[in-house]
Amino acid sequence: MPDLDLAIRGGTVVTASDVIRCDVGISGGRIALLADQVTGAAQTIDAAGLLVMPGGIDSHVHLAQRAYGARMADGFESGTRSAIAGGNTTVIPFALQPRGESLRESVMDYHRLADGNCHVDYAFHLIVTDPTPSVLGQELPALVDDGYTSFKVFMTYDDMVLNDRQLLEVFECARRERALVMVHCEGYDAIKFMTERLEAAGNAVSRPEIVEREAAHRAISHAELLDVPIMIVHVSGREAMEQIRWAQQRGLKIYGETCTQYISLTAEDLKGLNMDETGGKYVCSPPPRDRASWDAIWEGITQGVFATFSSDHCPYFYEGGEGKLNPKSRTSFRWVPNGIPGVEVRLPILFSEGVVKGRITLEKFVALTSTNHAKMYGLYPRKGSIAIGCDADIVLWDPNRKETIRQEIMHHATDYTPWEGYEVTGWPVQTILRGQVVCEEGKILGAPGQGRFLKRERSPFATPRGAATP
Ligand code: URP
Ligand code: ZN
Ligand code: ZN
Repeated sequence: MPDLDLAIRGGTVVTASDVIRCDVGISGGRIALLADQVTGAAQTIDAAGLLVMPGGIDSHVHLAQRAYGARMADGFESGTRSAIAGGNTTVIPFALQPRGESLRESVMDYHRLADGNCHVDYAFHLIVTDPTPSVLGQELPALVDDGYTSFKVFMTYDDMVLNDRQLLEVFECARRERALVMVHCEGYDAIKFMTERLEAAGNAVSRPEIVEREAAHRAISHAELLDVPIMIVHVSGREAMEQIRWAQQRGLKIYGETCTQYISLTAEDLKGLNMDETGGKYVCSPPPRDRASWDAIWEGITQGVFATFSSDHCPYFYEGGEGKLNPKSRTSFRWVPNGIPGVEVRLPILFSEGVVKGRITLEKFVALTSTNHAKMYGLYPRKGSIAIGCDADIVLWDPNRKETIRQEIMHHATDYTPWEGYEVTGWPVQTILRGQVVCEEGKILGAPGQGRFLKRERSPFATPRGAATP
């Protein structure tokens, strides 16, 4: 038997494929033993009555990101503190290339902010806003080789949108380099047109599902044209979900991601968007839809249309001059900083709505919150499972614990949670990062800086189907 640093005894181990009663032995930060009884470790945790699951991997979070004319509330320290309190052990935030600047320089900027400040392990996706010949020909290939193996592109937002020609060029580069492209699907021109017309009419519904559907279809068509796998992120409802399902049924490698807000918030929450009420607290894009859309998202989850369930944690303050209530945003909904905090509540809300209400199995919960993120983004099998040799990233989960989500128990830096008063069943009790207990009952143990940068492999899901391309 190996020398064990830690034994987790008496719990029920859940992976994406199995639910097994066994003990876990940890040595040197890795899982070394799975057995009926593990004894003789230097330290023992009693996990009786608890689920022992791979730590959450949230592959869609924004931290310390410069954009949207506001200051993001969470940097790497507070954002990863919130992540770890919510049962996560890895996050993948974004390194955004401001237009006109070098992507490599941008990545180094984000490293300067993140390195030494994270409570969880982390990697970076690259946001490509300016696909110049040198970015496509030199910077991206070198960055992929260095472990930044996924890019995000936007079909909307003034300072990030790519036109169709640019999208194709990035897709072509991703195919060549075997990187996975994440696509924000909302049609820029349609949104801009609607925003201008609706602003004049004092109405704030400027991003209807049809603009998401149209962009999803366009992205899928471009991906099919070049035979390049893509991930359509933060899908909000039936329209885009059905586009992805249609593409998958045609055998295309089109993957889907959905997020907490699309099974738990609605457009009703956005009322009062002109800042006379609290609507701004819920502004994110795509926006939350209606309750029928929740059903569509569950349909996509249970049918396997969505590979990953993320938070799209994108936190802004509500109050104050740089927050959602800033003076400019009070003049029109279009200036409200876009995004909501959610990394800490992703696991509890999915568990409560999904597992406790009988919509998904425990195995599916683990796949959606951890394993599939690791597989999609080149971290598997080091991350995302409980098996011999994996990093000992584990959340001990009380499946019966009832909690009410409140700002006062959150660990993020922003000044509100969109889920104030939301009741859940199932809660993280301890989070273990590479064999160290780093959060217990909401108390952060250890220090920022314990999180390590993860150089990622190329994703096997980014391999083209092999169809002929132009
Ligand atoms: O509202 C959102 N989701 N803001 C974050 C940026 C993005 O598009 O993911
Ligand atoms: Zn997006
Ligand atoms: Zn996002």
